[in-house]
Order: sequence, then structure tokens, then C-alpha cells
Amino acid sequence: MSSMTLTRHLLGQANRIPNASDFVLVGERLSLAAKLIAHKLAAASLEGELGYTASVNVHGEEVKKLDNWANEAFLEAFAAGHPVCTLVSEEMAEPRHFQENCAGGGYAIFYDPIDGSSNTDVNGSLGTIFALRRRAPAHQHGNFADLLTAGTEQVAAGYVLYGPATMLVATFGTQVDAFTLDRSIGEFVLWQANIRMPSRGKTYAVNEANYDYWAPGARRLIDRLSGCGEGAHRYSLRYSGAFVADFHRCLLEGGIYLYPGEVASGARRRGKLRLMYEVAPLALLAERAGGGASTGTGRVLEVVPDDLHERVPVYIGSAEEVQLAEQMSAEGTATS
Ligand code: F6P
Repeated sequence: MSSMTLTRHLLGQANRIPNASDFVLVGERLSLAAKLIAHKLAAASLEGELGYTASVNVHGEEVKKLDNWANEAFLEAFAAGHPVCTLVSEEMAEPRHFQENCAGGGYAIFYDPIDGSSNTDVNGSLGTIFALRRRAPAHQHGNFADLLTAGTEQVAAGYVLYGPATMLVATFGTQVDAFTLDRSIGEFVLWQANIRMPSRGKTYAVNEANYDYWAPGARRLIDRLSGCGEGAHRYSLRYSGAFVADFHRCLLEGGIYLYPGEVASGARRRGKLRLMYEVAPLALLAERAGGGASTGTGRVLEVVPDDLHERVPVYIGSAEEVQLAEQMSAEGTATS
């Protein structure tokens, strides 16, 4: 049994990564939120906590009771003090700001408390996604413009996967490490350090029901992967309805997850997934593990957003498949 807990692991990196002492505090609060959410998810069907609330979120989507609950768990965990002073969530139209936590600039945490919400009521896999960015030293109270920067500015990122086991996968330095929740001691313990994503995989993950709405390049890509296209090598389709679960498979076994834009749609022109707290965090993990993440026309991590909640098309996973998506002009060409 490994005794390398998340906290010990981060402390052990103190002389190798900048900000290590801040990351220890953040890691402790993240693991608290993750443990609270994992516990709640396991008991939700017994406690009558499945199903919807009466509200819709900033994206116009119906909100599940568990979305709200998990968002509150994050707020509680991070209200405790320095170093995170701003929380930006899929479930909140406006960031929550704790000015008193901003000593020395502080950080903003971006998060999707429950990724794959459609799986809550069927006991399917779920996730939490997070990323950490530094606030500008002189940022103004109530003004979040300093956070509208490229994903390369993320200083840490990761996800929690609530499957048969609860796993926390994160990059706090230059590498990607995975921790499993050991429920007997209530700690995340190191499972695999410095994960490397295979350069090619055997599976693709996509909601193929949207095929007719995509650009010709995205359709050609899927034809190629599914074995219907010319010179095709046949991949298997593995789609769970939770980005985190599908990405986790890519990280460990290779392959690609995609959510293309829809050419004729206003709302889905840039796909469905949100840049700042879904796509950019996993893009950082993908790149640090040796994989890639593209919008179909360029590197996800170079997209500079206009809005904290904006969407982006995504092709993420093994380097070869992501490169193929770009070669096949999945979203048209960069200038079109
Ligand atoms: O909003 C994110 C998300 O729930 C992802 O976790 C998942 O991959 C995707 O949306 C599912 O969308 P759809 O139901 O359109 O396939």
C-alpha cells in the first residue's frame, strides 16, 4: 500500500516547483471538496438528491440538485482563506470573490463541480474539473478582466473521476500524477506518477448523433476513425457522456475525445464544452502527458477568451489523432 499522500507528494516537490507551498494548501482544499462530493454522490440516491432543481445555469441548461450541492462544497472549501481568492464555476454566472484571501495577489480557481451531469441519475461516471490561475497583483475588486488569458497561464489543473474508484489526476508542476482515494484512511494516495499518454490509441469518444451538424472535416475524421472512410483503420467508439471519464481513458490508453462545433447553429457553433473550466484544464494535462488538444484549427492552450464562460470546439487526446484532426481540417481552416 502506498503511503504517498497528495500532500506529502506536493511537499516532496517543494524544491522542484515554484509555488509548492501554495499548491499544498490548494491540494488540501481540493481533496476535501472531492471527498465531500464523492461521499455525496454515493449517498444521493438514498437521500433523495437525484434529479433537477427548478433553475437553469448561465448556459441555459437545467441544473441538477447535485450540481448545486457540489458547487457549494467548493465554495465552502475555498472560503477558508488564502491563497485562492476568486472562484469561477460553471454553475455561477458571476465569479465569487473573497477579497480577504487575496494577500499577495492570490489565485483564481476555475471549476466544473460535476462534469457529465446527465450521468447522475443513472449511476454513471462523473467528474470534477479544475484549473488554477494567478490573479494579477493589482487586480481590481469586482473586475475579472485579468483572468481572460490563454490556457498557457494556468499554473495547475486536473480532474477528479468518480467511478468505481475516486481518482484525482493533476499537474501541479511539469508532470501529470494520479492519486486514488483510499477510503480506509480518507486520503488520496499516489497511484501513478508522471503519466505518459500513448502517442496513438484505439478508441474515439464523440456524440455521433450530431454528425450531420458538423463541418465536412469533422465528418471525414469520424468516417476515417470509424472505418468507413478511405484507407481507414477502424477504432472502437467509447462515449460515456462525461468528458472526464472519456479523457481519462485517452490519458491512460490513448485515443481521442472530440466535441466539434455545429456549422449551422448559433449556440453550438463553437461546440458545447466550456473553455476555461472544462477544455483548457484538460488540455494542459494532455500536453504535459505528451498528448495534444486542438480546437481543430489550433492549440487550445493559445485561445484567449472574451468571456469567462465561452465555449470552444475540442479535439483532445493522443498526439497522432489530434494531429489528424487538424490535418483533416475538422473545423475548416484557420482562416475560414
Ligand atoms: O457539458 C459537458 C458534458 O457533460 C461532457 O461531460 C460530456 O462529454 C458532454 O457534455 C455530453 O454532451 P452530449 O450529451 O451532448 O453528448
